[in-house]
Amino acid sequence: MELLEAIERRLFDELNPKVRLVLETGRYLIEGGGKRIRPLITVLTCGMCGGDPEKALPLGVGLEYIHTASLLHDDVVDGASSRRGRRSANLIFGNGVAVLTGDYMYAKALRIFATYGNMEMIRLVSETVMEMAEAQVLELSKVGEVITEEEYFNIIDGKTAVLFGACTAVGSMVAGYPDPRTLRRFGIHMGRAFQLVDDILDYTGDPSKTGKPVGNDLREGKVTYPLLSVLDEIGRDRVEEILRKPVLSEEDVEFIRSEVIRLGGIERAKERAEEEVRKATHLIGGFPESSYKRELIRILEFVVLREL
Ligand code: FPP
Ligand code: MG
Repeated sequence: MELLEAIERRLFDELNPKVRLVLETGRYLIEGGGKRIRPLITVLTCGMCGGDPEKALPLGVGLEYIHTASLLHDDVVDGASSRRGRRSANLIFGNGVAVLTGDYMYAKALRIFATYGNMEMIRLVSETVMEMAEAQVLELSKVGEVITEEEYFNIIDGKTAVLFGACTAVGSMVAGYPDPRTLRRFGIHMGRAFQLVDDILDYTGDPSKTGKPVGNDLREGKVTYPLLSVLDEIGRDRVEEILRKPVLSEEDVEFIRSEVIRLGGIERAKERAEEEVRKATHLIGGFPESSYKRELIRILEFVVLREL
């Protein structure tokens, strides 16, 4: 697909730090793969809104750099050892280099927005990263706790959905579309579905495809929707007792994982993700038919609801 190739090329071309180790670390993460869903939806939304997709391309790349920066930082925060099926950057280059390369990529993204975007976009992107950082702190503060559904959605909105929302809003702004807020909501529903699926894959995904072992969220003390949806059936006290342990044993992880699967937590989470996809689809229902709109719907169905 031509668009994906153009994104790929630009992702590597824009990255030109003077210090070799920054280039190596940044490239390492970008080369590790990823679906490039953020730049794709930025460019496609611009096209769907009647704008020139070429103009949205560098901004989509900037938003992918923000995603990359957030992963570099997240792996340090989580003390992760793998990402995208390979050893994580913090493990290879060390925490310091990983954090600082994340800083570089975040600043690079803002530089791209200052060059190709406008103040309204810079405001949106800055507020998005503020929300992402706050959500990460909220998530950290809740480790080992059984959170409420409301808290769960606050966390996933911040860590994933608002960046999707920024992508679709920016795409519409490039097109001069008068109502970027609606397109932002479209992206937020898409991002929520994406994170719900990510949380399902943490229970049932194939590690050779997801690049990470199952049960990681539980091992990190994180309670996600599949578990929340069957909490009463398993017994809240029982789950709380397990999560209170400083380190969960593999038996603990396997117990919760198998109970969630047995009690239908995966199906409930799937239904919730599908509901978000329906809301997203509904929001773009009024746009005229185009290859851009069709591709966005294909992304919603085959990329967001992946492997379900
Ligand atoms: C992954 O979550 C984490 C994110 C998607 C967001 C991380 C956000 C920040 C670190 C704050 C923003 C910072 C900058 C510099 C833009 P996860 O740990 O649940 O998923 P994983 O299994 O892929 O690690
Ligand atoms: Mg993580």
